[in-house]
Amino acid sequence: MMKPIKVGMLGLGTVGTGVVRIVEGHQEDLARQVGTSIEITRVLVKNLDKERNISIDSSKLTDNVDDILNDPEIDVIIEVLGGIDPSKEYLKTALRNGKHIITANKDVVALHGTELMELAEKSKCDMMYEASVAGGIPIIRTLTDGFSSDRITKIMGIVNGTTNYILTKMSQEGAAYGDVLKEAQDLGYAESDPTSDVEGLDAARKMTILAKIGFNVNVELSDLTVKGIAQITKEDIAYGKKLGYEVKLLGIAERKDDSISVSVQPTMIKLNHPLASVGGVYNAVYVYGEAVGETMFYGPGAGEMPTATSIVADLVSVAKNMRLGTNGSKLPPAYRVKKLITDEQIDSKYFLLLNVADKAGVLARITQVFADYEVSLESVFQQPNATNPSAEIIVITHIANKAAMNKVMADFKNLEVVREIRSVYRVEG
Ligand code: HSE
Repeated sequence: MMKPIKVGMLGLGTVGTGVVRIVEGHQEDLARQVGTSIEITRVLVKNLDKERNISIDSSKLTDNVDDILNDPEIDVIIEVLGGIDPSKEYLKTALRNGKHIITANKDVVALHGTELMELAEKSKCDMMYEASVAGGIPIIRTLTDGFSSDRITKIMGIVNGTTNYILTKMSQEGAAYGDVLKEAQDLGYAESDPTSDVEGLDAARKMTILAKIGFNVNVELSDLTVKGIAQITKEDIAYGKKLGYEVKLLGIAERKDDSISVSVQPTMIKLNHPLASVGGVYNAVYVYGEAVGETMFYGPGAGEMPTATSIVADLVSVAKNMRLGTNGSKLPPAYRVKKLITDEQIDSKYFLLLNVADKAGVLARITQVFADYEVSLESVFQQPNATNPSAEIIVITHIANKAAMNKVMADFKNLEVVREIRSVYRVEG
């Protein structure tokens, strides 16, 4: 029988508490799966005297990280502190000291994952990070193991619960962005500083991780184009609905031939697409593989027990590798040369909302611009604007080239009948 596996944990916040609950509550099942018991032996906390809503032997708590990183008895480090500093250095020290690492930290994985993975391989240690994307959905394992035989060409993700909650409320209640954000903050669903969520940065980090694994390319955060949700109006959502679309903050990673593109942006998604019905704080990741076709994975993207489930599943994987002596043997995922898709290679449908002068010949002038760049239109819808003598024109294009659409937009900016380009959305589904 293998000796018990000893775990040191960095952090005992919401997720850390969930990890303790699962490891202690599922002892027998875990032991049967890995062939020995798993024990959390030390936990790094900021305040040793803080009241906690979990009973944990106070002798396990320490406020000195060296007690954990330098303890030769500890096999595995679980990091649930978040942020880059000092988490990244703690993880590096753990690897140098021969400890396997498990992290829920999307910032560290997205920005420094390659460096850590190389160090892990050199140290013959495992590095696992299932909880860093979409909390309770086992999407990392799905991409690395489940789809290892396929060639993935598209990943679309609703990977930020806060923004999905805000957009769902805006859609259901016809409410404005600012009002819903304030309500979400008052209820504790959105952070008091919501920048990382609402500007799409949190989703961008998660998409960097997914794209890298899905395409085996060293995707970096700086390769992404990112747009958040602050500009979305209730009119956009209402017009979208009228035409059969829901607005979602989508991360889109796509591969065309050997080139890739990764972006995060508000997207109009057809109501009958499974991503359109993902509501509230839930997350979902849609994966298209050449062999498997369409798949989608849905579940909680955050929270104590869902995120802890993913972390403890990583712990089981590390323990199984320890039994087999195969730790650190997973290849770093980025073995393909990175080539980024150019605008000429990106094709998609678009939704445009234009405010135009309401007079004869305007529609003809507008459709001529689309024709000039060979952008074909799927539907055109016009509504008078009650408050001033103008009209709103909503256009959905057929699949069009992004470079051609950029030229259309540039021409509209110089066309005197177009008073304002109110909104432009990519359309999916
Ligand atoms: N802030 C994230 C979200 C949760 O709203 O989904 C943690 O990744």
